[in-house]
Amino acid sequence: MPYDLASTTWGPEETAAIERVVREGRLTMGENVRRFEEAFAATFGVRHAVMVNSGSSANLVGVAALFHKRERPLQRGDEVIVPAISWATTFHPLQQYGLKLRFLDVELDTLNMDVSQLARALTPRTRMVMGVSILGNPAALDVIRRFCDTHGLYFFEDNCESLGASLNGKACGTFGDLGTFSTFYSHHISTMEGGVLVSDNTEIAHLARAIRNHGWARDLPADSPLGPQPLDDPFFEAYRFIMPGYNVRPLEICGAVGLEQLKKLSGMLEVRRANAAHFVKLFRGDDRFILQREHGRSSWFSFTIILNPSLGIDRARVMDAMRKADIGFRMITGGCFLRHEAAKFFDYDTAGAIVNANIAHDHGFFVGNHPRDLTKEITELRAVLDGAAQTTSPAATRGQRSAS
Ligand SMILES: Cc1ncc(COP(=O)(O)O)c(C=O)c1O
Repeated sequence: MPYDLASTTWGPEETAAIERVVREGRLTMGENVRRFEEAFAATFGVRHAVMVNSGSSANLVGVAALFHKRERPLQRGDEVIVPAISWATTFHPLQQYGLKLRFLDVELDTLNMDVSQLARALTPRTRMVMGVSILGNPAALDVIRRFCDTHGLYFFEDNCESLGASLNGKACGTFGDLGTFSTFYSHHISTMEGGVLVSDNTEIAHLARAIRNHGWARDLPADSPLGPQPLDDPFFEAYRFIMPGYNVRPLEICGAVGLEQLKKLSGMLEVRRANAAHFVKLFRGDDRFILQREHGRSSWFSFTIILNPSLGIDRARVMDAMRKADIGFRMITGGCFLRHEAAKFFDYDTAGAIVNANIAHDHGFFVGNHPRDLTKEITELRAVLDGAAQTTSPAATRGQRSAS
């Protein structure tokens, strides 16, 4: 029984949506994308949603937008507080725009930024916090929001892994001045590739609209705060470039499929949460395995396991057993980013020691969650790990016995 990391979330509705778009013949960004953006904004309770071709592009466009804000724009050399674990393209736009990164460790159980250390990360040059909810589990977004408000910082919320999660009844992705989502294949909803930037701030949203589309004024309403007023001459108005931009537009089929996926979202989240309850029930109480502690309401992207570093468990042996049992697994998000060669291109430092992110890097992995019943797969995983995760420390067999 293969237990894969990800599987398709599509059914006949998505295929029909693609066929309809192809038949109608308008293939590049248009009405379907516009309707998806509207539905997305309504689903998550935000004023603006701007679709792009990936979550990475949403991060890039978001950072670019903050450099072009009329008031208090970001500037090269400004500092951004970031968690030590996230995906590469949480960080890359920051480097590409000449920002300095200040890495903070994560909590070993939630895997999110350790916000108790935020104050020590603050310097006179700090301008922004990058808040990331790892693998469906809400970070302390309320704490980050308060910290940013207190110190006059932007809060950029990279929510690319946690669509559908919430904290205190508020959707993750909507705590920041702007938030980003990914609709890549393996994520909670899939448009193949895709991403969305959301914001309640009209200026940020309109900047994002222009930047995703060559820096063009074409997608902006006449009363946009970006101004100036549309030109009288339609010949020049049709091709008016107001700022530097990219082409990171989504396709119409992505918008059309996204609309179908949003209709299924709550059902898919329910199944993911039922799988999570089974996973937690089977693994809880065994000292060998450190599970991701749910904070708020997780949308359970996946199931993380960190092999308790004090018990001397051989991860290679565990991984070998999972391979033999046809169970897919991988590094937790991008692991500790500082362990990657890419870090040498960055202007960065750390606020305090990076301990837990390294433990997750060296002793952790995740297995997949899917919007279908995984009772059998998770039960099999439990049996495989029970056999393979041998401890070398005699002091450590208590949990192992009680949980098996
Ligand atoms: C935290 C985070 N940010 C950004 C991204 C980038 O999203 P995409 O793969 O759609 O480019 C990912 C991808 O999984 C992610 O996990």
